[in-house]
Amino acid sequence: MILTVGNIKGGVGKTTLAVNLAVERGKNKEDSVVLIDADDQSTAMLFTGIREQGAPGISHYTCVSVHGAQVRSQGKSLAEKFDHTIIDCGGRDTEAFRAALTICDVLVAPLTPRSFDFWTITQLVRLLQEVEAVRDPPKAYALVNMADPSGTDNQAMIEALTEYPQIEVLQQVLVRRKAWPNAASKGQAVFEHVPKDKKAISEFYSFSDMIFNTKILI
Ligand SMILES: Nc1ncnc2c1ncn2[C@@H]1O[C@H](COP(=O)(O)OP(=O)(O)OP(=O)(O)O)[C@@H](O)[C@H]1O
Ligand SMILES: [Mg+2]
Repeated sequence: MILTVGNIKGGVGKTTLAVNLAVERGKNKEDSVVLIDADDQSTAMLFTGIREQGAPGISHYTCVSVHGAQVRSQGKSLAEKFDHTIIDCGGRDTEAFRAALTICDVLVAPLTPRSFDFWTITQLVRLLQEVEAVRDPPKAYALVNMADPSGTDNQAMIEALTEYPQIEVLQQVLVRRKAWPNAASKGQAVFEHVPKDKKAISEFYSFSDMIFNTKILI
């Protein structure tokens, strides 16, 4: 399966989710995983470098950097060799993102429960419509990330997103929690980080279950 984590909006948690999903898919060792860093910022590559320094040989996935339109050809050929191909795209309407959309089975588009993020959804829908002109579009999910721990904004965002039939909004949100940047700074997935943040872990597994339809015990 080819999964793209992408959105027109920057800084919404795309790389964070891509690396966490790569570790999570790879850790059972039965599945091989390639993480394609399709962002010129190379954050996923940097994360992987830190991860390999901390625990040599147990990254659980292979990370490769691929640029621009090459994401299409290289993504396709990598997907033949690995069980899971996860593509992390930069936060704009890039050639790489468009290329990823032409080959992926699933798109996860994270966004925060804020108006600026919501306003970019129409652009994302337009992109999906362009893809639809040439192929069956990927199954697209919106995920509210960096959600508020309380209040009504998360649910308001979920409801607002339901007006777009091209994108299925996930009911599971990921709350803004310090465990995410803390884990990332050490090259770890959120479920590897100590002290464990059980809420962050449980939210992540529930999200991942929805994407991969598996049941994982914490
Ligand atoms: N649920 C969360 N709670 C707290 N912090 C988070 C959460 N998700 C992501 N972050 C933090 O938000 C920041 C931006 O995340 P990230 O780099 O993954 O976004 P991005 O969409 O990949 O950005 P870019 O568009 O620049 O590629 C990082 O510092 C990350 O640790
Ligand atoms: Mg990123």
